[in-house]
Amino acid sequence: MKNYMKKIFGTALIVATCTWLQAAGIVSLIPQPQTMTNLPGEFEIQPGTKITFAGGAAEARLLAATLRQSTGYPLPVSPAATRPAKSEIAFLLDTNLQEKLGPEGYQLYVNINYVGITAATPTGLFYGSQTLLQLLPPEIFSATKVKHQFWTAQCVKITDSPRFVWRGFMLDVCRHFYTVPEVEQVLDLMAMYKLNTFHWHLTDDQGWRIEIKKYPKLTSVAAWRKGVGFKLDPQSTTAYGPDGRYGGFYTQKQIREVIAYAAARHITIVPEIEMPGHAMAALTAYPQFSCTGGPFDADHDGGVYDGIYNVSDEATYVFLADILHEVAGLFPGKFIHVGGDEVPKKTWQNSAACQAFMKAKGLKDEKELQSYFTARIEAIVNTNGKSIIGWSEIREGGLTPSAGLMDWIGGGAESAASGHDVVMTPTKYCYFDHYQSTNHAIEPKAIGGFLPLKKVYEFDPMPEKLAPEFSPRILGGQANLWTEYIPNLRYVEYMMFPRLGALAEADWSPKESRDWESFQARTALNEKRLDAMGMNYRPLSKAE
Ligand code: ACM
Repeated sequence: MKNYMKKIFGTALIVATCTWLQAAGIVSLIPQPQTMTNLPGEFEIQPGTKITFAGGAAEARLLAATLRQSTGYPLPVSPAATRPAKSEIAFLLDTNLQEKLGPEGYQLYVNINYVGITAATPTGLFYGSQTLLQLLPPEIFSATKVKHQFWTAQCVKITDSPRFVWRGFMLDVCRHFYTVPEVEQVLDLMAMYKLNTFHWHLTDDQGWRIEIKKYPKLTSVAAWRKGVGFKLDPQSTTAYGPDGRYGGFYTQKQIREVIAYAAARHITIVPEIEMPGHAMAALTAYPQFSCTGGPFDADHDGGVYDGIYNVSDEATYVFLADILHEVAGLFPGKFIHVGGDEVPKKTWQNSAACQAFMKAKGLKDEKELQSYFTARIEAIVNTNGKSIIGWSEIREGGLTPSAGLMDWIGGGAESAASGHDVVMTPTKYCYFDHYQSTNHAIEPKAIGGFLPLKKVYEFDPMPEKLAPEFSPRILGGQANLWTEYIPNLRYVEYMMFPRLGALAEADWSPKESRDWESFQARTALNEKRLDAMGMNYRPLSKAE
């Protein structure tokens, strides 16, 4: 068969399979759960259905709020009686199940009379509720009431827990800015797939996005540039300030709001404050912490710049310590990401002060200078009760004692084998800024590369060559969405979907359950969920 014929028949088969799956009441979950048994019959959410809880009140209320939007039913939420009654969705927190289910696992029992969601933690209850949503018709994801729908879920028994503890998605809000409601939408989409770590890339050459009270110019100056940049159409975005400059930032109050929104969805936010490179925007506002004194201009759009801190000056450490202190006070998670990638070392080579400093400290090259700097930052972050994580390059001059590594261009297996926590984000599988087709004419302009769905589905966060005793050091996998060419949320959605489902399955599902045919069929059905949400995704039927 010719390739294009295969493609057409292949797609037709997937669409037919998807319709058949739905008609047969066969469940279609992403990510695939650990174990699942189909039982006869269906549970139906009716106008009189009640939601009860014995522990997990917040999770019960969140599910009710979601279900009310599409069903329009009242779905009252109340403490549970002893046994679930007919037409009840019952949340049960049972700490005795910790050993069996772990901190994120759950059991979901759907029978014709009631639904039972059981877990040892509220997190597990939340994931159980996310699975229940996917058992219901796709229209359940509609934000407005859908008429003439039987809200039935196939009866099943599911016992589920994740393969990895870090199931991440990174959004770059510097190259382009996304508002609080837009970031919250991204968090909702992550939660749907049981992703639990939002890496918020908050500072870069082209914009600083977090209010720091002690340094107001980081937001009055560094959060803005003259235009949208990257040779993009100024109409492609709405992120303009009142004075017409492009950009924006989050106040600390807004940051707290987003953290709470994420926490309700059991998502931890890891803030990234880039250093010592990718700091052009900050240095535009505070050039005294640079090697050259500036002037700098955040209005640029590509390549590597000399936006690098002067790490030979104690004043730089005071500046960064002040910033990190405020950041640590906002974010409740363990890690602060301190960047460390693509440091333009030439600027340090050309700096007499940095060269003299290296000599005085006995540092043989700029890589060692970067490691010296990272160690100083690590100590500051530790003093604030947090740990650092950084990109691959932070290990080039020696990895500092307690640092976690985010592997995008290597070093993950080696770092894990030397006892460091590692998150895998290899460009080959995890860079969602790459094209989803080799035919660029049919795609919105992207930065380059080629990362089709199948490639993401082939991702295994566990490095092959790592000895099993070190496997617990691999925290999990993460997709990164850099946004140079992605000036609005619709385009973010297009780059996320369907690839985020593949990433979620790599992070959550047992490795043995990996099945590309099954995943495609489930992805086809998932398109109906995304349709119900009004999402802009890349259809499975679109040619690669
Ligand atoms: C990176 O993509 N520069 C971490």
